[in-house]
Amino acid sequence: MFSPSLWFLLTALGCTLAFIEIPEEYLAEIREDQAGESAAGEYNYDNQGDDWQGTCATGEKQSPIDLIFQDSKVSSISRLRFNYYNQSLRTPLVITNNGHTANMVLPVTRDGHRPYINGALLPGDFEVQSVHFHWGSRDSKGSEHAINFERYDVEMHIVHKNTRYETMAEATQHWDGLAVLGVMFKSVNRLTTQHYGLNKIFNQLPRIVEYQSNATITGQLNVGQLLGNIVTGQFYTYNGSLTTPDCAEAVTWTVFDDILEFPHRQIAKLWNLRDSRRKPLINNYRSLQDTNPGIRDVYYRVIQDSI
Ligand SMILES: *[C@@H]1O[C@H](CO)[C@@H](O)[C@H](O)[C@H]1NC(C)=O
Ligand SMILES: *[C@@H]1O[C@H](CO)[C@@H](O)[C@H](O)[C@H]1NC(C)=O
Ligand SMILES: *[C@@H]1O[C@H](CO)[C@@H](O)[C@H](O)[C@H]1NC(C)=O
Ligand SMILES: [Zn+2]
Repeated sequence: MFSPSLWFLLTALGCTLAFIEIPEEYLAEIREDQAGESAAGEYNYDNQGDDWQGTCATGEKQSPIDLIFQDSKVSSISRLRFNYYNQSLRTPLVITNNGHTANMVLPVTRDGHRPYINGALLPGDFEVQSVHFHWGSRDSKGSEHAINFERYDVEMHIVHKNTRYETMAEATQHWDGLAVLGVMFKSVNRLTTQHYGLNKIFNQLPRIVEYQSNATITGQLNVGQLLGNIVTGQFYTYNGSLTTPDCAEAVTWTVFDDILEFPHRQIAKLWNLRDSRRKPLINNYRSLQDTNPGIRDVYYRVIQDSI
């Protein structure tokens, strides 16, 4: 027998997930994520976020920004440490079109560990929560951050929560609540075999074209695979915000300057998604925000042998 909530979900889902059992613990996480998404209220990308209110309009440590090498403090930051990033996650994983992006809540590993990051300038241990993407369209690039004035085709965000806070809702109320890893994708015309995990995710996109549809991913997947083959030793890091309402200034950003090359054929699948108005979900990126160098610094880490 299913628990009542699982039963409710399976009824709501119709056939897509009907025969795949999803652990109650993971369902609870998905529900928490969706509650957070609902709490943000209605918003869209018609003006790239320039019409969003509240902290989005008044904040002084907003994201995304242009990450400029010349304006950064190049310092000997210790490396970013990835813990349990190479351990297989419990499956199935659920990927959802939430009207603003393709979002996947990440469960614990098969042996019950929650992958986390620390090191670099992170103020604590940050457990992985979810991954989502920002993209453009056939004619435009869709990364949120820019690196040395250049924007890229897609930007992936891997969202982490400081272990000192119980919930995402609580974490967003503190400057040290969240850590997001940003990875830039550049579209290439050849197929790459190096991105097993990402290909698994992108292969499901045709099944989540409609708003609130979801699909499952089974088999072996670990969080490390999301990073493909990029060099993680060089990155920009700074204090910023969520790039969606309410734009809470709760994020330590780490944006890698090594670019992940990803097949155009896969990226094109993102442009077919639809939002809650059944309009094409394209250009779901926020415009660049003021860096406000008097108020915050942007740091750049270079690879050094001894640290
Ligand atoms: C996983 O990462 C650890 C270090 O974090 C390493 O010692 C181990 O060999 C890795 N395992 C696999 C299967 O890659
Ligand atoms: C999947 O889609 C259904 C129907 O739109 C939605 O109500 C439900 O919350 C989604 N479930 C998950 C696990 O995301
Ligand atoms: C972020 O802000 C906190 C609190 O003001 C500060 O201690 C920390 O050094 C800042 N981190 C970065 C990366 O600038
Ligand atoms: Zn994002």
